[in-house]
Amino acid sequence: MEPELHPDLKPLEFLVGEWEGAGVGGYPTIESFRFGQHISFTHDGRPFLSYTSRTWLLDEEGGLGRPLAVETGYWRPLPDHEVEVTLTHSTGIVEIYLGNVAFNRVELRTDMVARTATAKEVAAGHRLYGLIGEDLGWAYDMAAMGKPLQSHVSAQLKRVT
Ligand code: HEM
Repeated sequence: MEPELHPDLKPLEFLVGEWEGAGVGGYPTIESFRFGQHISFTHDGRPFLSYTSRTWLLDEEGGLGRPLAVETGYWRPLPDHEVEVTLTHSTGIVEIYLGNVAFNRVELRTDMVARTATAKEVAAGHRLYGLIGEDLGWAYDMAAMGKPLQSHVSAQLKRVT
C-alpha cells in the first residue's frame, strides 16, 4: 500500500516518482556528451525522500551506450522551506547540500564535499531542480579539477509513473 506523504514533504511532493529523459554535459577538461537518465524519488511515510539517479552515454542516434554517473541519497526537508541533501557517488565522492524549496523549484549548494584518496578533485557543487511544464528539469554546476564553478550537466526528464 502506498504510504501517506508526511506533511513535512509537501514542498518536495512534486519530485516524487520515476523520471526519464536526456541531457547534455561537458567541462573544460573533457569532451562534450549526451546522456540518458533515470531518476527515482520515493518515500515510506517518514519525512525524507530516497533518491537514486542512473545515467548512460547516448550515441549520435540516441542509442544507449556505457553507464555513466550513478548517485544515491536522501532529501530531508527542514522548517522554513529549507532542505538538506546527502549524495553518495560511485566515484568516491560524498556531497552534502543545503538549499531552499519554493514553487516547485529547489536550489542546492554544497555545504561540504568529501573525497576518498583516489577520487577526482571536486570542490563544490550547485544544483537546480524544477518543473518545466510537467517535465522535471535539473542542472548541475561544479568546481572541479582546479576550475571555478561552472556547468557540468543538465537534463530534462518526463514522469514515467
Ligand atoms: C548526470 C550526472 C553526470 C554525468 C552523466 C556525468 C558524466 C561525465 C562524463 C561522461 C565525464 C567524462 C569522463 C568519463 O567519460 O567518465 C565526466 C567527468 C567528470 N565528472 Fe561527471 N557526470 C555527472 C555528474 C557528476 C557529478 C555529480 C560530479 C561530482 C560530484 C562529477 C564529477 C566529474 C569529474 C570530477 C569529472 C572529471 C573531469 C576530468 O577528468 O577532467 N560528475 N562526467
